[in-house]
Amino acid sequence: MEDTFKMVAKTMAGLEGVLAEELTSIGAQNVEPLYRAVSFEGDKAMMYRANYCCRTALRILKPITSFVARNELALYNNIFKIKWHEIFNINETFAIDAVTSGNYFTHSQYAALKVKDAVADEFREHFGARPSVDVENPDLRINVHIENEKVTVSFDSSGESLHKRGYRKSVDKAPMNEVLAAGLIKLTGWKYDCNFVDCMCGSGTIPIEAAMQALGIPAGFFRKKWGFMTWHDFDKELWQNVVLEAGAEMEEFDYEIVASDRSAKAVEIAKANIENAHLHHDIKLTKQDMFEMVPPPGAGLMIINPPYGERLEERDIVKLYKGIGDALKKNFKGYEAWIISSNKDALKLIGLKPSKKIDVYNGPLECKFEKFEVFEGSYKDKKIKEYEGSDGPRPS
Ligand SMILES: C[S@@+](CC[C@H](N)C(=O)[O-])C[C@H]1O[C@@H](n2cnc3c(N)ncnc32)[C@H](O)[C@@H]1O
Repeated sequence: MEDTFKMVAKTMAGLEGVLAEELTSIGAQNVEPLYRAVSFEGDKAMMYRANYCCRTALRILKPITSFVARNELALYNNIFKIKWHEIFNINETFAIDAVTSGNYFTHSQYAALKVKDAVADEFREHFGARPSVDVENPDLRINVHIENEKVTVSFDSSGESLHKRGYRKSVDKAPMNEVLAAGLIKLTGWKYDCNFVDCMCGSGTIPIEAAMQALGIPAGFFRKKWGFMTWHDFDKELWQNVVLEAGAEMEEFDYEIVASDRSAKAVEIAKANIENAHLHHDIKLTKQDMFEMVPPPGAGLMIINPPYGERLEERDIVKLYKGIGDALKKNFKGYEAWIISSNKDALKLIGLKPSKKIDVYNGPLECKFEKFEVFEGSYKDKKIKEYEGSDGPRPS
């Protein structure tokens, strides 16, 4: 189709697969996972939909050109050739985001500066004046991706990163990025068919993202602004249709979503964020130590992001992780518990055998996201039970 174009959705390492699934589910074509990104094709409505619906995308880029450059002059000259004065007005603002890798361009800030000069000079050549830069809130955000000598120039249709959903007004220590929280929930494969618990909820990000997923509230529901809204080809009616269509998919959820934390300050912040997301009737929030916490009975999914030791002062990391394991065994029977931590040694102190381990990053920290199934009896008992109904080898 003529009006179909290529786009790149950026994400975090480890979330490429779930983002590819999200894009496919909203109708994107030729979806291809890359490293920390997914490429896909679609029309303008798809670009709006990806921005509004994808929970695990950080930004949606629309590539406009690519070329080869091995030095700053070649970069400048190729950027200068683009007719920027036909793309935006002199009284509008712009910003450059540059990401570089490889040997030719080693300083992304310097590459961004060269690109900015070339855009400004192209305007100057036509009008004798140049548009201003606004790094916070530009009318056009231009993304320059340089991998070795290959330069790709894109318009950033998201503007501010999509993890800024619009519901989080304040945060406690070590808040989780909303995109990571949404991605972890998706990685568990939750089908919204059981209770959900985060008993170390901090600012409440994981339970809020869980409730939004379970209730089918679009990722961008609380957000006011996207980059494409100041583009000259912004189609307001098409955008409003995309919003209406996505909102029509809101769901009923018949289980409980429980958030708790032992810190009064964290609970206060989580309360404000939950209220901002209008989820105070959907998330049960309490101040409680996980070691005394009794979750809703029946099957459930628990995700926690305990202190890792690197980021928070925790006097006794050993006591904490052993305590988590003991609490799981005592009170969480029937639950699937997922724990994210960068402290791999501490995870071993849980004292349960993980049935899955996934590599993810929390900011710069390389983490494991591990699944623990808490059954009545031991892991061996469960394996024997499974064996009794199968033809496989008897567990030793
Ligand atoms: C890394 S923060 C969680 C951040 C959270 N995911 C967010 O997005 O804001 C860890 C949280 O665990 C809480 N915590 C530590 N030990 C706890 C315990 N024994 N019971 C309950 N909460 C605990 C801390 O108060 C802190 O809020």
